[in-house]
Amino acid sequence: MSSFYPTQKPSVYAKRRAKLAQAVRAQGGGVVLIRSGEEIMRNRDSDYPFRTDSYFYYLTGFPEPEGCLALVVGQESTQSILLCREKNEEREIWDGFRYGPKAARKQFGFDNSYPVDELEEVLENLLANQPAVFLRLGEDPELEGGVSEVLKTLRGKVRMGIGAPHSVQDVSHILDEMRLFKGKEELDTMRRAASISAFAHQQAMLATHPGAHEYEVEAALLYIFKRHGSEFPAYGSIVAGGENACVLHYRANNAELKDGDLLLIDAGCELDCYASDITRTFPVNGKFSKAQQAVYEVVLEAQYAAIAATKAGVRFNAPHDAAVKVLAQGLIDLKLLNGGLDEVLESGSYRRFYMHRTGHWLGMDVHDCGSYRDPSAKPEDGVAPHTSRKLKENMVLTIEPGLYIRAAEDIDSKYHNIGIRIEDDAIVTKTGCEIYTHEAPKTVADIQKWMAKRAAPKNKIAKIK
Ligand code: GLY
Ligand code: MN
Ligand code: MN
Repeated sequence: MSSFYPTQKPSVYAKRRAKLAQAVRAQGGGVVLIRSGEEIMRNRDSDYPFRTDSYFYYLTGFPEPEGCLALVVGQESTQSILLCREKNEEREIWDGFRYGPKAARKQFGFDNSYPVDELEEVLENLLANQPAVFLRLGEDPELEGGVSEVLKTLRGKVRMGIGAPHSVQDVSHILDEMRLFKGKEELDTMRRAASISAFAHQQAMLATHPGAHEYEVEAALLYIFKRHGSEFPAYGSIVAGGENACVLHYRANNAELKDGDLLLIDAGCELDCYASDITRTFPVNGKFSKAQQAVYEVVLEAQYAAIAATKAGVRFNAPHDAAVKVLAQGLIDLKLLNGGLDEVLESGSYRRFYMHRTGHWLGMDVHDCGSYRDPSAKPEDGVAPHTSRKLKENMVLTIEPGLYIRAAEDIDSKYHNIGIRIEDDAIVTKTGCEIYTHEAPKTVADIQKWMAKRAAPKNKIAKIK
């Protein structure tokens, strides 16, 4: 039986391992250990779908559970070792294909491989006389416990001339920094994930009509994701009609959609472990009311301002600050807030309607890894330590301003329960940014034109209703 893994050439992962090794060597070398995770039972005999640990997959391209990468970094050379499940005819009859160490080593380009059942013995050999162990500290307690046991065993062999590593160090910050800057293969995958998701948003708009339920529209999204080879949604899809749109991480997706309400969809597929993250908000009946359009135009203008502020050399906070200015002015113009712009910005009164940040890193995880702080900020240079970092080429982030107006006595009822977010994904370039989720309709005119194409709703199976 064959498989399509690794999805990239083995050299892509090998280059990442070499870069990691270089950073570890600069810290004196040692052994890096990263595991893929295990299958987890959902309920009796039924597992949650398995999704590989992002760091492990980034460095190996190996898709199976119970894998462990050991990268042995010496002063002169590096050895890449994979531990994985053995071939097992019976388990393969029940659960499907496994590579086994021999084939995995060959197909994925490792220097060596072992059955994962031998992890403890292999670690005793690999860690003997090494200066340090590098782990994602705090993320894999079982591995940390296993390493502690091995260290104890090795210390017991001191009279045999064997030394144990003197330190266990965190490797997360090195890998986070690597993953923050996307390579060509990663950007290609992310663009494809985004195209699938944008198409799914188009289809979701066509599947929306008064009387449908949020889950029907969700089904239209998921169908497009799967149909194009996406393994999973990148996060729980938010399909939120009317007031539900004011719940930022709404999960239920079970309400009936009402004529005259807006529908907010925040959904993106994951493709080969890379996320996309798109939000669109549109009228259930295909036509914005005046009040909805007025609020929508403010959010859209804020998004354009944030996009214009996204480029290499500016700080991560710049798009947020640009968006907030437009949102605050819009709230004043709509008479939802009192006072002048400076006053509203200074007091933070806009946070009643805009309570989240304008973006986050995007990559293998939807809220991707990577520090938001300037790693070189020093108070003695006049840069406060919490200052946000500068954007650089090939970082990827979302741009997602919104306004959420819950019903309240002091608010004009025409704005009650309007929740709007507009979210696109952006690759930072030298002079600006590339919005690569643009295929999902976004302006009022484009949304209304697109939704005018809707056919009459399809019948559901009569018996089920
Ligand atoms: N979908 C999660 C987010 O937009 O951050
Ligand atoms: Mn997002
Ligand atoms: Mn989102």
